[in-house]
Amino acid sequence: MKILDIACGSGYGTEILSDLGKVTGVDLDPEVVEYACRNYANGCTSFKLGNADDFGFLESLGTFDAVVSLATVEHVEDEYKYLEWIRGALRPGGASVVCFPSVVTMDWAMPHHKRDISIRQARRLFHKTGFEVKRDFYQNHKLDIRHLISEVTSHDNEIPIPPLRQWIGYYLTHPHHAVLRAYETTVGGGVHFGDQEYLLFPVPDADTSPARVKSGSPRFKESFG
Ligand SMILES: C[S@@+](CC[C@H](N)C(=O)[O-])C[C@H]1O[C@@H](n2cnc3c(N)ncnc32)[C@H](O)[C@@H]1O
Repeated sequence: MKILDIACGSGYGTEILSDLGKVTGVDLDPEVVEYACRNYANGCTSFKLGNADDFGFLESLGTFDAVVSLATVEHVEDEYKYLEWIRGALRPGGASVVCFPSVVTMDWAMPHHKRDISIRQARRLFHKTGFEVKRDFYQNHKLDIRHLISEVTSHDNEIPIPPLRQWIGYYLTHPHHAVLRAYETTVGGGVHFGDQEYLLFPVPDADTSPARVKSGSPRFKESFG
């Protein structure tokens, strides 16, 4: 199998995938690509620096039996074009595995995340870009407020914390999310984290013409939850 692990991060998962064949890991961040090369490159695993928003670069990668895109769809500029590219990069019989959050993240994850995607919106995205969901999996957990504080204040914390004015700006335009967070952190007993994970098969002869795809593009940022 020839596999692409796009936005591979440290390369830890890329190496696991190499049990199945030859894997190329791609990431935008030179530091993580350098780390991945140093720690995980071998005869079956290689890494490249590249941008998943650069379709010229993506096309240059060729075709694959599987495209794995974990925690990436929320980062790219145009999720519809990105999924369409994945579909086009799959060889006959190929499949894709994608995952992304299923909860609100935009209040703390901007500008790294470009959107939040509800489960309903994810289904529409796959349908419009010519994918059939073969399997799905959802994980949810609650981080109680004490753990959240220790997570955010710990010395090795790597979660980017946006400046206060960004939070305020976000909640002014999304007051229902401010209410949600106020509820979660008081009577709700903790902040919800959740992921949605999919095994996708391309639908043969699906109509993914630009007009059809475009007309289905909702403003995810605005319409979530
Ligand atoms: C949340 S991490 C996920 C890493 C890995 N896929 C995993 O599941 O552990 C997101 C990764 O996406 C990369 N990334 C973000 N935007 C990207 C883009 N436009 N092109 C390529 N990589 C990107 C980041 O550098 C980061 O390593």
